[in-house]
Amino acid sequence: MSGPNTDYDPVEVTPLKAEEVDAARDAALAAIAGAQDLEQLKQVRLEHAGDRSALALANREIGALPPQARKEAGQRIGQARGAVNKALAERQTVLEAEHEARILVEEAVDVTLPTDRRPAGARHPLTTGAELIADIFVGMGWEVAEGPVIEAEWLNFDALNLGPDHPARTMQDTFWTDPPEDHLVLRTHTSPVQARTMLTTTPPIYVVCPGRVFRTDEYDATHSPMFHQVEGLAIDEGITMGHLKGTLDHFAGAMFGEGITTRFRPSYFPFTEPSAEVDLTCFVCRGSGLKAGSSESCRTCRGEGWIEWGGCGIVNPRVLRACGVDSDRYTGFAFGMGIDRTLMFRHGLEDLRALFEGDVRFTTAFGSEL
Ligand code: PHE
Repeated sequence: MSGPNTDYDPVEVTPLKAEEVDAARDAALAAIAGAQDLEQLKQVRLEHAGDRSALALANREIGALPPQARKEAGQRIGQARGAVNKALAERQTVLEAEHEARILVEEAVDVTLPTDRRPAGARHPLTTGAELIADIFVGMGWEVAEGPVIEAEWLNFDALNLGPDHPARTMQDTFWTDPPEDHLVLRTHTSPVQARTMLTTTPPIYVVCPGRVFRTDEYDATHSPMFHQVEGLAIDEGITMGHLKGTLDHFAGAMFGEGITTRFRPSYFPFTEPSAEVDLTCFVCRGSGLKAGSSESCRTCRGEGWIEWGGCGIVNPRVLRACGVDSDRYTGFAFGMGIDRTLMFRHGLEDLRALFEGDVRFTTAFGSEL
């Protein structure tokens, strides 16, 4: 096979041998047939049909041949190049079709496959729990009220009959904010929302107020300096302790299922009179006090059959008056429970901190709850 003839000296040009042209053609055809994809075919084209391919160089040498040899060489090389170009075009068509077919298979998307590439987040059980509680009350025609977490001292304490010297103030381990003369606290309970509601609405009032509250508690399995309460307030003519008991029994049943009710124990809160602690039928042993199928005590209620749930009572008339409600005409009841505690019972959680630490493995376990 000839190399490039750069100086085109006719004397030095060796006539192109027929076998060399045939060999170049056959090599090209074999390479074309062997090209497995379009990329390989591109290389083959460059090598066997490009400017520097043997046949292209041979073609250039035709002019340097003695005239009598030109015709035959021209024909032979022309045919060889024609055959190569035709084979290239055919192989190109075949490979393109294959390529498209392969894309169709490789890039096919099964739209019926379940997708988990972006795992759906889960709503936090505290959010869904607070909503569930609100829904139970909305179902009875109540409204939902909210208040700020940084609260006026007067609303958190004074309006609720907790004057500056009231001993019960020290029972609520309060976070005070700077500067002290602003008289602002991180609310220690949701009861200031009662006061806010009474100050801004005229009775009858039926509101439920879920929200975050703060106390300078240790952080451990059963305490947290930040937790959640839900407050309820009903003000109307002729409201009695019976309405309170009936409402809380309905709340307990709706939240924990049939057979779960409440019992009251006498207690004291400055803002209610009379006041009671509310206990809930133990959700685990359902009141029996016994561990399922054994004579041992239930671990959750320690054999009591009841668990502490919250506080409640008939709104102290002093609170009604401080908040501008006619205490001769209206009476009311109020209650407050820990939402976190309620959820711990409901979901059998052992450690309160699981609710606050933001571990997605915890929340996704509740993912489907609406
Ligand atoms: N606010 C009280 C507490 O946090 C609970 C309560 C609310 C008691 C309403 C009675 C009435 O302890």
